[in-house]
Amino acid sequence: MPKWTINDSSKVYNIENWGAELFSINKKGNVCVHPSPNSKYSIDLRMLMDDLIKRKIKPPILLRFMNILEGRIASISRVFKNAIQENNYPARYQTFYPIKVNQQRQVVEAIANFGKKYNIGLEVGSKPELVAAISMSTGSNLPIICNGYKDTEFIETVLFATRVGYDITIVIEKLFELEKIVEVSKRTGILPKLGIRVKLSSKGIGKWSTSGGDDAKFGLRISEIIAAIDKLKESNMLGCVKLLHFHVGSQITKIDKIKNALIEGTRIYAEMRKLGVDLEFLDIGGGLGVDYDGSKSSYFSSVNYSIEEYANDVIYQIKNICDDAGVPCPNIISESGRATVAHYSVLVTNVLNNNTQTLLPDFESVLSDASKVGELSPTVKKLLDIYKSIDRHSLREDYHDTIQLIQESVSLFNLGYLNMNERAHAEWIYSRIIRKINNIVEKLKPIPEELQNFQLSLRQTYFTNFSLFQSIPDSWAIDQLFPIVPIQRLDEKPDVLTSIADITCDSDGEITSFVGQTGRTKALPLHKIKSDEDYYIGFFLIGAYQEILGDMHNLFGDTNAVHITFNKKTNYKIDTVITGDTTWESLKYVQYDSSEILKRIRNNLEKDVSLQKVSIEESSHFLELMEKTLQSYTYLGE
Ligand SMILES: Cc1ncc(COP(=O)(O)O)c(C=O)c1O
Repeated sequence: MPKWTINDSSKVYNIENWGAELFSINKKGNVCVHPSPNSKYSIDLRMLMDDLIKRKIKPPILLRFMNILEGRIASISRVFKNAIQENNYPARYQTFYPIKVNQQRQVVEAIANFGKKYNIGLEVGSKPELVAAISMSTGSNLPIICNGYKDTEFIETVLFATRVGYDITIVIEKLFELEKIVEVSKRTGILPKLGIRVKLSSKGIGKWSTSGGDDAKFGLRISEIIAAIDKLKESNMLGCVKLLHFHVGSQITKIDKIKNALIEGTRIYAEMRKLGVDLEFLDIGGGLGVDYDGSKSSYFSSVNYSIEEYANDVIYQIKNICDDAGVPCPNIISESGRATVAHYSVLVTNVLNNNTQTLLPDFESVLSDASKVGELSPTVKKLLDIYKSIDRHSLREDYHDTIQLIQESVSLFNLGYLNMNERAHAEWIYSRIIRKINNIVEKLKPIPEELQNFQLSLRQTYFTNFSLFQSIPDSWAIDQLFPIVPIQRLDEKPDVLTSIADITCDSDGEITSFVGQTGRTKALPLHKIKSDEDYYIGFFLIGAYQEILGDMHNLFGDTNAVHITFNKKTNYKIDTVITGDTTWESLKYVQYDSSEILKRIRNNLEKDVSLQKVSIEESSHFLELMEKTLQSYTYLGE
């Protein structure tokens, strides 16, 4: 067998195809993060984790690579700049970061800061998001677009913010909002900057395709736009409308769906201009997808186009239609969230050492002792015969018989004909047969169809210190793939097929679909964990939506988060550490009060002390432990 190399690992986990040249494997066999695509500089993730542990920051840790974030903002702006130049487009492009994708203050602050060069703006969809965005801005330097439903208070806040110098566009999502906007504007005497969201007939594709099409939740139909124009004219406010917006869904996997939406959206823009609406901006929403599995396909965890192709199509289609219609080209806005932030954060955590092989009874001696074999139950004996005789020729038949016999052993046990020991013998031989079959199957080419799924019987569960519901909820909710890779030992063959189980008490908290070499696979190859090692795995491309959609199943709270920038002298610099929730903080979300908890426990203990059921020492030791637990991280320690 040729020696396993880091290139083999790179292929197994498909790193080159999803990694956007930001992730690679170094000579030590550790995963590296590059500050920019293909940069010769890199941060060794395993060394970084060891350093963080030395700093007493415990896993799971969300690592946020701020250079990557900056780089993504820069590259989206750059590809649009190039497309504008190539197509001689006569207007500007601007990105608005939709803060719903990750509203963490430090993240939005960083985006606003990095984005200054590119005139970035923020898109918000609720009152809290509006307040957060206003708090980042010092007036017109950070423009804001307000989507989502709005009440009178929301509208009034936006109007007064406009009066005091903020640059905010309020997008009409529904006709009934227009009535309120006109009423508040008349009452306050403040003219708003308005946008209109149109409901396109063109639909996106994939999980979020219902954001577009005739049944979409948001936006005005064509007839409603005409009604809105009439109403605004009548109120002397048509001049306030500066922007037309559409959004046909997130993670649009096929470029032709984007083109269809662009054509329809730009046609509506052109017609509105002809109707006398002085539109200056066309906001094409989000939807620019991320290739999570690296397959470059229209499968929903992937995309069949590049950012360059996206930008070129946007500019080309808009220019073409505007030129044909004889209307001026608009300034273009896109609200790319996922494509901006997916890459920059990686969750790294430890696999709990599950090497329990040495604890299991060894039946080898029982089963090889001829005198004892005679005493075995017939079912166990048949399994043993298969184990001894199986070979390439009898493979299929023996596999079928094995499955039938193991099922039979369970039935016989339930009926009382097999005891615990005998069932354990059956289990033990079964696992040996499966391993033997695997050794044969690995050498077969092609693998017989019915044995292709066979390797799943070998899959072992690796229990891992994280909550799926908190850290990658889309894996559970919509079966989205995220690349998962061990961050060390990649110069060794990962020869255990695994599924990844989290530490919640929920059987749904398990990942059984992974990014593989040729698409989705049902098992993740990992290494056999040594008894004395800390073995870490990384969950990649999780920067978009996952943090904010995460929930507190079993009261596992926010993880520790660390912001890191690349540094030539010391390799990296830690900018910020945001400590994860402690047990008392998690309990506070569900209305428990830690001092009340301690008081109640103390009262109970004092009763037992007075009844001499518990000693004073035991009581105070227990209280100390409770205090320590309340202060501790919600995830598992040693
Ligand atoms: C109105 C609007 N804009 C932008 C986005 C961000 O989309 P994406 O993350 O796909 O870029 C969304 C999310 O679905 C949205 O609803």
